[in-house]
Amino acid sequence: MPANKKLLLLPGDGIGPEVMREVRRVIDWMAHRRAISFDLAEDLVGGASIDVRGTPISDSTLASARDADAVLFGAVGGPKWDSLDFDKRPEIGILALRRELGLFANLRPALVLEPLVEASTLKPEVVRGLDLMIVRESTGGIYFGEPRGIDSLPDGQKRGINTEVYTTGEIERVGRIAFELASRRRKRLCSVEKANVMESGLLWRQTIAALGAREFPGIALSHMYADNCAMQLVRNPRQFDVIVTSNLFGDLLSDLASMLTGSLGMLPSATIGAVDASGKRPALYEPIHGSAPDIAGKGIANPMAEILSFAMLLRWSFGLEDDAALIERAATRVLASGLRTPDVMAPGCARVGTAVMGEAVVRELDKLAA
Ligand code: IPM
Ligand code: MG
Repeated sequence: MPANKKLLLLPGDGIGPEVMREVRRVIDWMAHRRAISFDLAEDLVGGASIDVRGTPISDSTLASARDADAVLFGAVGGPKWDSLDFDKRPEIGILALRRELGLFANLRPALVLEPLVEASTLKPEVVRGLDLMIVRESTGGIYFGEPRGIDSLPDGQKRGINTEVYTTGEIERVGRIAFELASRRRKRLCSVEKANVMESGLLWRQTIAALGAREFPGIALSHMYADNCAMQLVRNPRQFDVIVTSNLFGDLLSDLASMLTGSLGMLPSATIGAVDASGKRPALYEPIHGSAPDIAGKGIANPMAEILSFAMLLRWSFGLEDDAALIERAATRVLASGLRTPDVMAPGCARVGTAVMGEAVVRELDKLAA
C-alpha cells in the first residue's frame, strides 16, 4: 500500500480557521468515498503563533512544512498585531514559508464561474468565460531585496528603503513555469514589468524574451508595462491567457484580477518550487483572500477559495485530476443552486454562512459520486 500523503494544515488567523474547518469536511469525504487518505497535521502560523509561541512561525512548523508533501494555508494578520515591527508581524509567517521552502512561483488563477457572472462589478459581457492565470514571482523582488529598512538622516528626516532586485536565474525559473503552463493552455504568455523605468524590469523583459525564443518558440509571447496591464485587465481581461510578473506587480494585479470574478472569496492559489532530488516539488496552497478581520468570527466567510485551494493541491501535488475536477464541479453546482455567502450574494439567491456552504459542497460531492 502506498504511504499516506502528508498534509500540513496552517489555518492561521481571522477567517482562516473558519474556512479551513469546511475543507476538513471535504478531506474527510475524500478519505471515506475515494479512499484518498492523508496524514493530517495542523499547526500554528501568523498571529495565532505569535500569541502562543512569540514568533509568526516556529522552526518546528517550518520543518513540518518542509517535510510535508503539501501545505494548505489559511490566512494571516489582523489589527491585533498591526503595531509589531516588520520582522515580527504575522505576515512573516507566509513570507518565511515561501522563502524557506523555495516556493518561487505563485499561481493565481482568475476564473469566472457562470453562476457568478453577475457578481462581478464588471459587465457580464466583459467577464463571461474569463479564465486567466497570473504567475507571480514570490521569493524575490522588492519583498526580499537588500538594502531595506528605515534610516535616520543627518537633517532629522527618516528614509524608508526597499530594493527591487532580480537575477536572470530567478527570472528564468519562474518564466519557465509560466511558459509550461501556457503550453498546456491557450499558448499565450504576457510578461509584465516596467522596463520603461526600471533596470530590473528591463532585465526581466530581455530574459523572458530570450527564454521564449530559446525554449518555447510555440508560445505567443507579448510584453506589457504593469500600469497598462492593470488597465487592460479591466478593459478587456479575456485578451490574457497566462501573465508572468514580479512579486510586487503580481500582488497588485492578482487582487485586481480576482475582483473580475466577483469575489476575493472565490479564488485559490498554489505556490510551488523546483522539483528536488527525491522527485518532490514543494508546494503550498492558499486562498488569495486574507484574514478578513472585519468578518472573522461571524461565520459568514466564503469557504470556496480554501476548498478550491484543496482541489488545486490534489491536482498539482498528487496528480489527482479527477478528484480535483470533482470538487470544482461540486462548488460550481452549489453556487448554481443559489446558495451564496454575502460576498457573492445576488438578487434571488439564498444568503447562507460558511458552514452551510461547506455542507452543501459535501452534499453535491455525494450526488456527483452516486
Ligand atoms: C498575498 C498577500 C501577502 C503578500 C501578504 C499577506 C504578505 O497580500 O499573498 O497576496 O503580499 O504576498
Ligand atoms: Mg496580496
